Amino acid sequence: MAQTAQAQIQDMIERASRLGDDVLASEIRAFAASRQFGLVFEHNRPERMRLYGKAVSAGDVVQVLPERGKKEGAASKLLWLVDAICGSTASLTAYRTNSYNENDEEPRQANVDDLVAVAEYDQPIYAGLRETGRVERGGDKPYQVVINGENYHALESLLFCYAGKVDCIYIDPPYNSGAKDWKYNNDYVDGSDEYRHSKWLAMMERRLKLAKKLLNPASSVLIVAIDEKEYLRLGLLLEQLFPSCGSEMITTVISAKGVARAGQFSRVEEYLFFVRIGEAEIGLGADNMLDNTRNSKEKLGKDVDWLGMRRREPSAVRGARKDQFYPVFVDSETGFIKSIGDSIADNVERNSVPCPEGCDAVWPLRKNGTEGIWGITPSTARRDLSKGYIRSSVTQRKGMRNITIKYLPEGTVNAIESGSIRIVGRNEDGSVICSYRVEKGVIPKRVWNKKSHNAETHGSLLIGALLPERKFSYPKSLYAVEDALSFVIRNNPNALVLDFFSGSGTTAHAVMRLNHQDGGHRRCICVTNNEVSEVEEKELTKQGYRHGDPEWEHFGICEYITKPRIRAAITGRTPDGDPIKGDYKFTDEFPMADGFEENAVFFDLTYQNPDAVELGAAFEEVAPLLWLRAGARGRMIGHEERGFAVADTYAVLFDYSCVREFVGSVRSKPALSCVFIVTDDAGRFASVKAELGDLECVRLYESYLRSFKIAAEDAVR
Ligand SMILES: C[S@@+](CC[C@H](N)C(=O)[O-])C[C@H]1O[C@@H](n2cnc3c(N)ncnc32)[C@H](O)[C@@H]1O
Repeated sequence: MAQTAQAQIQDMIERASRLGDDVLASEIRAFAASRQFGLVFEHNRPERMRLYGKAVSAGDVVQVLPERGKKEGAASKLLWLVDAICGSTASLTAYRTNSYNENDEEPRQANVDDLVAVAEYDQPIYAGLRETGRVERGGDKPYQVVINGENYHALESLLFCYAGKVDCIYIDPPYNSGAKDWKYNNDYVDGSDEYRHSKWLAMMERRLKLAKKLLNPASSVLIVAIDEKEYLRLGLLLEQLFPSCGSEMITTVISAKGVARAGQFSRVEEYLFFVRIGEAEIGLGADNMLDNTRNSKEKLGKDVDWLGMRRREPSAVRGARKDQFYPVFVDSETGFIKSIGDSIADNVERNSVPCPEGCDAVWPLRKNGTEGIWGITPSTARRDLSKGYIRSSVTQRKGMRNITIKYLPEGTVNAIESGSIRIVGRNEDGSVICSYRVEKGVIPKRVWNKKSHNAETHGSLLIGALLPERKFSYPKSLYAVEDALSFVIRNNPNALVLDFFSGSGTTAHAVMRLNHQDGGHRRCICVTNNEVSEVEEKELTKQGYRHGDPEWEHFGICEYITKPRIRAAITGRTPDGDPIKGDYKFTDEFPMADGFEENAVFFDLTYQNPDAVELGAAFEEVAPLLWLRAGARGRMIGHEERGFAVADTYAVLFDYSCVREFVGSVRSKPALSCVFIVTDDAGRFASVKAELGDLECVRLYESYLRSFKIAAEDAVR
């Protein structure tokens, strides 16, 4: 069998080592390290990101925005280093990167308002989050999260919160169609760009490497949607990045009508890569996803167990529990339960209790004839009797009628009410006959053809119902994303899902639907940038606006579509406050106006100046990251509090002199999932950690943002 180049080189290294030539072996190793095998592209093609919203300061690398009303051009691509800022004037010198010395201009001055900071890979940046709104209808459930920002930096920040903890990542990246559907270094990538595949791969590789660090290595799934433009290259990239994982490609029909092109096949489909990490498996489905030849069948499993209502343990004697000694009256003829009597005080003789005519009183008597207690109180017994969850069982023994009272324990009652046990009939006395439901799922096929996956009807039109008059290009069908996720997280009601190319927020919407179906607490983090379409960009530029202006940002995807969509889905109201028209369909049908009992919080990704970092300021910017790490539930500690602060799920020690009080407060709140200790002193951190035992303790540097420094390229290598 032919060897791969890598295997051949490994062979050569081993042979050189066997011959004792360590110098040759290390030379071959160095040579191999300098080569690229497999998918070949320009990994290091620099990717520069504009940090709109960052206050420009001395030391920043910047670009000078075009004059208002003018388009971007070669001049606005030049990089400058800010030497000094005096008032509103910045002194700039040409900034030369190692790889591209494109700026040969003389030093110049510019108005600070005309500058935008640019992140280069050799510069550290300090990212944080700023809350821009929330919607709360979910009680103490965890929050769904939407982040407006560059996903590369957002992923880096999320590593602090969720490294190795994400159960499923679903992404639908730009397809690199050649039709200006995405930007690299702030420039649209179109069909004439010779490096378009290299740029796309470099962009994807950087983000997928971070995604890999976020996914739970024990069991998680990465789902990537793609079409014919990049599916081959994406397949290879995934194979290289996830070499030991199972990977499958689904072909999915998104519009049976098709897009016809002369001389070609009509395009009706897209693809979904499912990469299974660790022990992850694809779950069974309700149907086979291709046709209706095999659908899931519900089978009835074993009958439920009825338990004797009298408590059996030796200590269960009359008086051991309040309210649990009372008569159950049964019909003298039929033996069926007629009613439940009241509990009697410990000093009352049971035979003194009057019995309704035509009934016998059954008391909780132990085998030896002494008085015991029932397992439930009279009020619960009456409620259960009315629902058929209590019955009598009559037997004849040695000519004597023996009546036992039976009941369904609380767990069984809950399972009936939630539907996992099915009532299949009633006995003559009205008590239920029920069996466990066994859903016999179907192994899904690799080709999906479902009307519910139509991107126009259940993507674009659905957004039109939630956000009348607002348009978003190419959303996925809500039900298509729901189906894809359900194969991975249906059986994990607390799953953490991430979509870092979230566009209109379909993934979070689908996660909320899955929660609606089974009462789950799954949550989704959606990250998307705030770009406007090319047409809108031209129009806004003509009106004299620039990216970064509030008037421009208002129309960006995240502000205009994603955040309002999630708000509308939860509240059931359009942005104008009208009830959303129409019903959800397929698996779970209900009016969209009902909304969801969920919470959501919206953030902007922010960039801080190193000066603030040195001053030890800016806790507010990292505060949401601590709250996210602690599970995104309950109160957020939003600003530095005196000494320390304790919220529902986490606590922060700001001032070590309060350590005693802090430890006491933390110990009194067993629901805390982690604590953050602000100290530069490793010894102090270790001593608090030792005192708090198993509780997760995280150290933060006193200059907070230093804990969140993103060293960009270094971090992903
Ligand atoms: C194809 S769309 C996703 C559509 C989404 N699945 C839906 O149903 O609405 C890709 C989205 O990724 C966003 N995006 C592209 N590059 C990004 C980046 N570097 N950081 C954050 N978002 C980005 C774009 O704004 C676009 O909305």
